[in-house]
Amino acid sequence: MPQGVRVRVSPPAQILLHLMLIQEFISKEISAEVNEVSFSWESPSNIALVKYWGKNLDQTPKNPSISFTLSDCKTTTSVLFKKIKNTSKIIDFELFFEGERNISFRTKIEKFFSSIVGYCPFLLNYHLTISSSNSFPHSSGIASSASAMSALSLCIMSLEKELTLIDDEFFYKKASFISRIGSGSACRSIYGGINFWGTHSDFSFGSDLYSTQISKSISSKFHNYRDAILIIDEGKKEVSSSVGHELMNDNPFSQIRFKLAKNNISKLMKILESGNLNEFCNLVESEALMLHSLMMSSTPSYVLMKPATLSVINLIREFRKDSNIPVCFTLDAGANVHILFPENFSQEVINFIKKKLSVFCVKQKYILDFIGTGPKQI
Ligand code: PMV
Repeated sequence: MPQGVRVRVSPPAQILLHLMLIQEFISKEISAEVNEVSFSWESPSNIALVKYWGKNLDQTPKNPSISFTLSDCKTTTSVLFKKIKNTSKIIDFELFFEGERNISFRTKIEKFFSSIVGYCPFLLNYHLTISSSNSFPHSSGIASSASAMSALSLCIMSLEKELTLIDDEFFYKKASFISRIGSGSACRSIYGGINFWGTHSDFSFGSDLYSTQISKSISSKFHNYRDAILIIDEGKKEVSSSVGHELMNDNPFSQIRFKLAKNNISKLMKILESGNLNEFCNLVESEALMLHSLMMSSTPSYVLMKPATLSVINLIREFRKDSNIPVCFTLDAGANVHILFPENFSQEVINFIKKKLSVFCVKQKYILDFIGTGPKQI
């Protein structure tokens, strides 16, 4: 039985890809000989504050988004590249997840490779052995595509750096660019801190093709910001994000949503600069609920919150009112709740989670994380 998985790029798809390739990101001429090499990266997940929901065919977003890069929720990926003789347009790879040969993620990786082969044609000369694992439990309902796709993209870029002459700035920019092709939100996991992805009049440096770190003039109140992830549902996602994004094409509120998201980007930037945490809580919660209202108003419609999600949301709002502690929630496209709060209130908020919220979590499970510094090569 063949060990490797063969990816075929069908001729029509190849022609289409070739026509659409963005010149800047096609790898440069090979200037070094590399026969066998291995690279390992750990890359974190990220949580959006202004959500990306709705995309174009080329995996560019319908509206810009801003996220916090996390720290402990991460994927570690190693890729062993071994030179092979190959004259076809096939990328040879095998995949191990948490030590076991894996077939369930294969289709996604095959699609990813066929979409990036035009940008990284050197991959055709190698057999790839990919070994990956997540820091968070497999069935915790935490989306791992951002951390997984960014970790894999960084390993690929490490090989490109070995083979061609590229500087660090391009290394990370292209890592974000190819991560986006794998999973849109993954492009925001390449840099630490706070990330912006998309185009917007307030961001002259912004791009739909990759994300950029927002580093200047952020209030110190957001340094080391915490994110406690309550595991309300461990099940597989009820609707994949690809299907969710597609539903936005016919959602009756989509145009107004894209406008509101742009306005919220401007508002959030002012808040991140001023450090007004009450405004931060209101905006972030409104974004999370809007994301879910879009799913509820799509055809077919989805209710992705569980009764426990709503109970937790109400208790967080009550706690914020009673304690005056600026703690708020945000949600992904699922039932789990992310609780965001400043580091100096950690003790009070963690006590509150333990006493009042953990009962709503599967096996009382929650993960304590914080804004991180971004991926690390290991
Ligand atoms: O990257 P995708 O295609 O899995 O989409 C992620 C969408 C949300 O997580 C719901 C929002 C976001 O901006 O991350």
